[in-house]
Amino acid sequence: MFLKSKKIAVFASVAILFFSACQYEKLQPFGIGCNSEVSYVNDIVPVINANCMGCHYAGNGTIGNFATYAGLKTDADNGTLNSRVLVLKDMPQGGSMSDENRQKINCWIKQGALNN
Ligand code: HEC
Repeated sequence: MFLKSKKIAVFASVAILFFSACQYEKLQPFGIGCNSEVSYVNDIVPVINANCMGCHYAGNGTIGNFATYAGLKTDADNGTLNSRVLVLKDMPQGGSMSDENRQKINCWIKQGALNN
């Protein structure tokens, strides 16, 4: 009896672990550790256009201009893109962004913020 319930407990733990791993994968479209390559053109530009371009366009004061690769790359390299979008999460200002899109930006930065 004791042995049987122990087996059930082990089976249940494995099942729960497996299920949570699948849920985690869903939140991580580029895999745990960013296994797939993120494309600036195909993955990042659409996220920036939908979430940031209301403010981060050329000539809007001194804030980063994300209409160009060079503008976004500057903030990727100086660490502000990471801190504002992934640590503080206060960008997009006054708005919200999905975990999936934040993860795309995270992986893009980790992979060197390439112009690919
Ligand atoms: C409603 C306007 C608005 C939106 C939308 C917005 N920002 Fe900002 N952002 C600002 C303003 C204003 C500042 C400068 C003041 C400050 O640092 O808080 C700023 C500053 C920043 C900075 C600090 C460095 C710099 O360039 O000034 C980063 C990085 C940044 N934003 C990233 C983003 C990203 C990425 C998005 C989209 C996911 C986004 N922002 C969306 C208004 C906005």
